Amino acid sequence: MLRVETIDVFYGEARALAQVSIQVEEGTIVSIIGANGAGKTTLVNTIAGLLRPRRGHIWLATQDLTRIPPHRICAQGVALVPEGRRLFHRMSVLDNLRMGGYATGTGREFHQALEWVFELFPILYERRHQRAGTLSGGQQQMVALGRALLARPRLLLLDEPSLGLAPIVVTQIFQAIRRINQERGTTVLLVEQNVVRALELATRAYVLSDGRIVQEGPPQELLQDDRIRQAYLGGESLPGP
Ligand SMILES: Nc1ncnc2c1ncn2[C@@H]1O[C@H](COP(=O)(O)OP(=O)(O)OP(=O)(O)O)[C@@H](O)[C@H]1O
Ligand SMILES: [Mg+2]
Repeated sequence: MLRVETIDVFYGEARALAQVSIQVEEGTIVSIIGANGAGKTTLVNTIAGLLRPRRGHIWLATQDLTRIPPHRICAQGVALVPEGRRLFHRMSVLDNLRMGGYATGTGREFHQALEWVFELFPILYERRHQRAGTLSGGQQQMVALGRALLARPRLLLLDEPSLGLAPIVVTQIFQAIRRINQERGTTVLLVEQNVVRALELATRAYVLSDGRIVQEGPPQELLQDDRIRQAYLGGESLPGP
């Protein structure tokens, strides 16, 4: 469904991504893992159209997204949950969610999508009139995810949804991601530093290091890989299947 072909992305003269290629098959969850500064945000922001690659191409099915502006990429069914959530803190939960649905309007489709978000995160229904800035970090992440779902995406791009959250909340968020994928068939591209969680969820994974893809494969394989254990898991052994 998504094909990123040998893209180079620069900030000024500094190259943040070099020859990066990834593929995401329809209906799967693909994880990109990598340390701070590896280029994860740069990659998802480029797919969402917020940055332009200097070289290479990005395809969504047969459509070339490479030089299309963000709002049109969104209209093609690609929604980004950005790093740090980027909510409107003074606005209510409901108004934040509405921002994600502006393209779908306020008709029946919008209300169905809103019901689905409240089914996934019942707490957001309870808190729908509360200002988003007064929610807990986990609840704010739920709003950010919900807002993206209101665009009714085919492809969901998630930039470190677990950042700064307690383990139990991370579990809730990751369970929701799994449900979105399984129950709605939404394709997911997840970037994470939380390597174990990201690999548990994924169908396939890539390792990004210093702007390059250095490894790829099925998650079980990567979890057994000594280099990955050394680099990201402090060399500790992992729980078995
Ligand atoms: N706006 C910017 N201007 C200049 N350089 C940038 C900018 N944004 C990111 N970079 C650089 O590009 C590289 C990749 O950054 P990026 O934010 O994509 O990494 P990341 O993998 O998302 O890291 P993190 O896990 O900390 O979020 C880093 O070297 C970073 O310093
Ligand atoms: Mg980042």
